[in-house]
Amino acid sequence: MASTLLRTSPVIRGALRASGAIKPAVGIASTTFVRGKATLPDLKYDYGALEPHISGKIMELHHKKHHQTYVTGLNTALETIAEAESKGDFTKAASVAPLLNFHGGGHLNHSLFWENLAPASREGGGEPSGVLKTAINEDFGSFDTFRKQMNTALAGIQGSGWAWLVKDKQSGTLGLVTRANQDPVTGQYVPLLGIDAWEHAYYLQYENRKAEYFEAIWNVINWKTVGSRFEKA
Ligand SMILES: [Fe+2]
Repeated sequence: MASTLLRTSPVIRGALRASGAIKPAVGIASTTFVRGKATLPDLKYDYGALEPHISGKIMELHHKKHHQTYVTGLNTALETIAEAESKGDFTKAASVAPLLNFHGGGHLNHSLFWENLAPASREGGGEPSGVLKTAINEDFGSFDTFRKQMNTALAGIQGSGWAWLVKDKQSGTLGLVTRANQDPVTGQYVPLLGIDAWEHAYYLQYENRKAEYFEAIWNVINWKTVGSRFEKA
């Protein structure tokens, strides 16, 4: 299955494996033959732990229902492609590739997103520290300027999508990118902090006031995770 994904979409496969979103089956890890199957990751906090900034009901639905749908869709797409390829039906396999991008991206993006959040009563919110703080100041001028630019990018997304703080692997500098739907951040950019701008991420609580959601989420950003990703990138 994983070898099929390797041939079909090396970018998606690499991103998923690097994030740990696809785990090798127990017993055959570290071999060249790996059966990858996506699973829903556990959260490191309770659904209600991000309140009042993100409601427990949103978190529960977002994780248990929406993310699970991407996990299921990814595994189904992988199985469909493997079956089509085994029959030599490459037209069928190719037709499923967009689903692999959508569900694979959805699984990857949400896996990164949950780790980007933390309860405000613990390490959530505030401002970054250390080398990440220095880099943000150098590349954006100040933390406040960065935050405003990120919110502007989020507000500018038409329909569904994500905004990301990324590190450019070539230049080593920070930047902001947006992605439509569930397109993952790939190539020269390493995703450090992603904010989900899909309606399912805020509508139950904020309805059409998405700017309020974009303001509130800064109270639960886990800068420790973002800093760690920056230093490893
Ligand atoms: Fe989402």
